[in-house]
Amino acid sequence: MRALVTGAGQRVGQAIAVELARQGASVAVHYRTSRAGAERTVAACTEAGGEAWLVQGDLSRTAECRAVVDAVRGRWDTLDVLVNNASAFTAVPFEEVSLDHLDAMLALHVRAPFLLVQGLLPLLRAGGVTEARAPGEGGVVVNLHDVGADRPLPGHAAYSVSKAALAMLTRALAVELAPAVRAVGVSPGQVAWPPDYDEARRERIAARIPMGRVGTPEDVARLVRFVVCEAPYLNGVDVPVDGGLSSRY
Ligand SMILES: NC(=O)c1ccc[n+]([C@@H]2O[C@H](COP(=O)([O-])OP(=O)(O)OC[C@H]3O[C@@H](n4cnc5c(N)ncnc54)[C@H](OP(=O)(O)O)[C@@H]3O)[C@@H](O)[C@H]2O)c1
Repeated sequence: MRALVTGAGQRVGQAIAVELARQGASVAVHYRTSRAGAERTVAACTEAGGEAWLVQGDLSRTAECRAVVDAVRGRWDTLDVLVNNASAFTAVPFEEVSLDHLDAMLALHVRAPFLLVQGLLPLLRAGGVTEARAPGEGGVVVNLHDVGADRPLPGHAAYSVSKAALAMLTRALAVELAPAVRAVGVSPGQVAWPPDYDEARRERIAARIPMGRVGTPEDVARLVRFVVCEAPYLNGVDVPVDGGLSSRY
């Protein structure tokens, strides 16, 4: 199995890369600034029984998206899994959202996944993981959405709009690219804290989660493994991994 995981130098992306490596995958570990973290991901992938290599790029820039595509195409002629995980989450009150911030959110969460899928499509068409898949079925795109994509958090209008657009991209890919390539969304609830959340806020959020605990990056990674390896008929859906948070009033 060959997989590209964006934003894999820490947290959820790192856990997904390692979980796929545990299935024997060769992983292209993408990072932007977290070089040391990405190197730790590569080491953890190797230790988990897979292999991995680094690819760098600022995905809010079109040219760097294309460079990431070129790096993968230069190395591989098939791709089984593309995980669009890279993300930025910064609170900005609505009246202070600048054009630059809005553009950056849309570029990272919508344009980059769009360009990566487009650029890697021939490889994804030639890929495919699960033995249960039918002839003609190939690779899979997993997009990291957010349960907040349709239940916006105050202060995150640009983020929420861009994640909602990404969720639509998932569905658009699912209907246009299948059966050769399927697309599935995974929506975490609270699985890794934003660094600026204080203890009181963390406790308030945790108390709302029906499962009685916040999630972990590994909770998300296990779902991605299931989507990739065990669910060849899953296409066009958004699967929450939130301990029930999005179901409650
Ligand atoms: N954490 C949660 O509880 C939670 C909740 C809901 C949804 N999610 C979603 O789940 C995914 C993973 O969450 P996370 O908290 O693990 O993410 P994260 O740590 O906030 O971000 C993952 C990586 O994205 C990369 N990134 C940011 N801007 C980039 C850019 N312009 N170009 C390329 N890469 C860029 C960063 O790479 P570098 O560090 O290398 O710069 C970062 O390490 C995200 O899509 C997020 O929206 C997470």
